Amino acid sequence: MGVSKTSKATIFLGFLWLNLFQSVVGRFVVEKNSLRVVSPDVIKGTYDSAIGNFGIPQYGGSIPGTVVYPKENRKGCRNFEDSGTSFKSKSGAMPTFVLVDRGDCFFALKVWNAQNAGAAAVLVADDVDERLITMDSPEADGSSAKYIENITIPSALIEKSFAEKLKKVVNAGEMVNVNLDWREAVPHPDDRVEYELWTSSNDECGFKCDMLMKYVKDFKGAAQILEKGGYTQFTPHYITWYCPQAFTVSKQCKSQCINHGRYCAPDPEQDFSSGYEGKDVVVENLRQLCVFKVANETNKPWVWWDYVTDFQIRCPMKEKKYNKECADTVIKSLGLDSRKIEKCMGDPNADEDNPVLKEEQDAQASFFIFP
Ligand SMILES: *[C@@H]1O[C@H](CO)[C@@H](O)[C@H](O)[C@H]1NC(C)=O
Ligand SMILES: *[C@@H]1O[C@H](CO)[C@@H](O)[C@H](O)[C@H]1NC(C)=O
Repeated sequence: MGVSKTSKATIFLGFLWLNLFQSVVGRFVVEKNSLRVVSPDVIKGTYDSAIGNFGIPQYGGSIPGTVVYPKENRKGCRNFEDSGTSFKSKSGAMPTFVLVDRGDCFFALKVWNAQNAGAAAVLVADDVDERLITMDSPEADGSSAKYIENITIPSALIEKSFAEKLKKVVNAGEMVNVNLDWREAVPHPDDRVEYELWTSSNDECGFKCDMLMKYVKDFKGAAQILEKGGYTQFTPHYITWYCPQAFTVSKQCKSQCINHGRYCAPDPEQDFSSGYEGKDVVVENLRQLCVFKVANETNKPWVWWDYVTDFQIRCPMKEKKYNKECADTVIKSLGLDSRKIEKCMGDPNADEDNPVLKEEQDAQASFFIFP
């Protein structure tokens, strides 16, 4: 998405597989000219910001305010009230925008802390010089998921250079009036909500795999209803990585990768000598991606949910059924075109890119950006 203007909000649900923890992910959408500084003149103008999707009211809107940069707890990772700081604006005064620094904790926690202290909006100052990119804020545990749903104030990531100007003016005691506009950052009423699900077909990694499978099973019903009703548009994703060039002929790479080291997954049992190998997981992940592609082409993307849950039940590693033969019976039972799926999968032994997995790796690169 880059810095291009986008009018669609994308929500993420599900698991961040690379991190191997359950995560609820909030996404920031980059908006051009979404933050306007009204005064003082030295920094007057419009600036880009990446607006967080939590806390944005369902309708679009804009909010004026004055910027405060707290004297302590500048990253906003701790409760502001513990240090007696309040951002509640006196009646008749402009709402308070709290400026906090990026780092040390998740975006959502900063916003939650500021909200509890009375802030009307939060600006997070980037700490590296970079173009604002679409940002995701993964949450590591269930406790954060609880407060995310209670965040009601908007938040936005701003560029480091702009943040420094802001701080300078605020620290000089000037009153900075701004206006944050997120009208373009929420889905339009006639738009579908888009979301992405990061998953894996691996069913033998203990607790984490069990959690993922349970999640997919539990969520399937609702996901299919929403998709069939045209309320959502989802895309499943699978993580792979590549073997460093120097190691492509090593035993590890050969057992974990397909397409000559281009797409790899860890050995499910972490034991190279027995059971399934990483490449078995990559191949099944690829099959599931192709199931989605083929199902989506026939305008029935929700069949993916049937495939992955059926495959889990019928073809588990434990019963030594995690293979093509078993997958084919599931494909057949769902009336999917197996030739199309095979064509999509290509030749895993070929020394060439697989377009489907290549696209996944590219998506991954822009996805794993951490607070
Ligand atoms: C979120 O709000 C609900 C309803 O007001 C409340 O019951 C719950 O305790 C709140 N959660 C947190 C983490 O404050
Ligand atoms: C799924 O189909 C829709 C509508 O035809 C399309 O816009 C979307 O890009 C497709 N998704 C993928 C991942 O191919």
